Amino acid sequence: MRRYDGDVAVVTGASSGLGRRLAVDLARRGATVVGIARRQQLLDQLAAELRAHSPESSTVACDVADADSYRAALADVESSRGKLDILVAAAAVEAETRVPGADVDDFRKTMDVNFFGVVAGTLAVVPGMLARGSGVIVNFSSDSARAPAPGGAAYASSKAAVSAFSEAVAVELADRGVRVHVLYPGWVPTPMGLQAVERGMPLPPRPVRRTEDQIADLVLERMGSPAIELNASRLPVMAPLARAFFPKAYRKSVTKNSNS
Ligand SMILES: NC(=O)c1ccc[n+]([C@@H]2O[C@H](COP(=O)([O-])OP(=O)(O)OC[C@H]3O[C@@H](n4cnc5c(N)ncnc54)[C@H](OP(=O)(O)O)[C@@H]3O)[C@@H](O)[C@H]2O)c1
Repeated sequence: MRRYDGDVAVVTGASSGLGRRLAVDLARRGATVVGIARRQQLLDQLAAELRAHSPESSTVACDVADADSYRAALADVESSRGKLDILVAAAAVEAETRVPGADVDDFRKTMDVNFFGVVAGTLAVVPGMLARGSGVIVNFSSDSARAPAPGGAAYASSKAAVSAFSEAVAVELADRGVRVHVLYPGWVPTPMGLQAVERGMPLPPRPVRRTEDQIADLVLERMGSPAIELNASRLPVMAPLARAFFPKAYRKSVTKNSNS
């Protein structure tokens, strides 16, 4: 099992689901972790759990869509801890956006958290990482970016933007000691994953279903490697090819198996 002793890691979306699992597992593996999310009560519970494994760990209540506060929170981690080695950007929201019916503001709200939150975090930590000659950023995308599903235009757009942004930055920084990854977690029964099923999304096919533990292990064993994409499941990687070469079959399957 890979250890992170001595590393300082920030995890957003740390109050729930995949972000919480990664924050706790990073602390278990020796990192000093700062967990970021908005719900104070959940952050207080998390802080106690983090400190049981890694005494210097803490939590900060912050909305990643508020770029100024988020930048300030990251700068504070860097100055108080002396460095910031790892940023895991898991914070996101998912709301149904049907066309017609959705308003442009519904798209803006989703983009503000899911995309501009990721952009703000990456831009804030890269200068310090470059100055130190090392750093790892893991930005969370979704298979929705590869196979957008009915009712998910805002979420899929935000995740496609995260993928393009992260890939471009990854190749730009690869030779300068900073690794940027884009994670595709498949489908995981977190509150977000389960809410999608409750809203009527069919349970995704078995090959794309994963657990929180599997995703945390994937990230913690592979981050820092030359791979840009971290894929929990290989099946959705085929979606763009299927769309190009078998459009009818593709449309049928994506309508049936819309994925979170
Ligand atoms: N579960 C899946 O099947 C699946 C599949 C593909 C991709 N993903 C991605 O995996 C990541 C984690 O999702 P999850 O499934 O673990 O969902 P989750 O359990 O709903 O967790 C989402 C987290 O994001 C935080 N968050 C939301 N808006 C925020 C904001 N404005 N500022 C700061 N934190 C915010 C939430 O905390 P607060 O509400 O306390 O702020 C929560 O901790 C997301 O990026 C999601 O898109 C999940």
